[in-house]
Amino acid sequence: MKIFLDTANLSEIKNALDDGLISGLTTNPTLVAKEGKDYQETVDSILNITNIPTSIEVVSDNFEQMVEESIKYAALSPQVVIKIPCSRDGLKLVRVLSKKEIKTNVTLVYTANQAFLSGIAGATYISPFINRLKQISTDGINNIEKISSVFAKHSVDTKILAASIRDSYQVTEAFLAGADIVTLPYSIYTELLSHPLTETGITTFREDYEKVVGVEG
Ligand code: E4P
Repeated sequence: MKIFLDTANLSEIKNALDDGLISGLTTNPTLVAKEGKDYQETVDSILNITNIPTSIEVVSDNFEQMVEESIKYAALSPQVVIKIPCSRDGLKLVRVLSKKEIKTNVTLVYTANQAFLSGIAGATYISPFINRLKQISTDGINNIEKISSVFAKHSVDTKILAASIRDSYQVTEAFLAGADIVTLPYSIYTELLSHPLTETGITTFREDYEKVVGVEG
C-alpha cells in the first residue's frame, strides 16, 4: 500500500518528501502548466529533487513521436515513469517501452476493460480515474474492485494506481477496493494527516498534563 503525490509544485513535493510518507509522484501537462514556468525546466527541477518513481506524460499525437518523446524523458533519470494515455497507439507504446524495461503508467483509464488491455500490454501502473467519473455520475471505485479482482485471479503484476482523487473518503474507498497506490493532490494529502478531534484531543491532554505536573513539567 503506497501513496503518491499528484503535483508539479516543488514546495509541495519537498514538504511531502520531508514527511517520508510518499513513495512516488505523478504529474500531467495540466499540473505542469499550472506552475507557470517552462515545461522542460519544471520537469527537470522535479527530477532534481526526487529519487522516487515520477510519472511524466507523453503528449505527442503520432506513434513515432510518442516513442521519441518517451525515450527522451526516460533518458533523464531511471526514476522516470512514462505516463501514456490509454489508446491504441498508447498501448503499442507500452509494449515497446516494456521490452526496453522502461516503466509505464497508463493514464485516463475509465473502464475495467481498458485496465485489462493495459495489463496485457505490460504496463507497470494503470491509473483508473475516480473523480472525473463521479462528476458524470459513474462509480469509479467499482472499476477498481473489478480490476483488482481480475489482476489477482490472473497474477497480473501491473499496479493499480487510483487517480483523480478529490476527497479523503475516495482515498479510503480506493484502498478498500484494492488499489495498490493512491495518488493525491497535496491538499488531500494534508487532509489525511489530521482530524479536528485529534487536534482538540492533543490540546486537552497537554492542558491536563500541565495541571498535574505544572507548566515547567
Ligand atoms: C493522475 O495521475 C492524474 O494526474 C490526476 O489524478 C488527474 O486527475 P484530476 O485532474 O481529475 O485530478
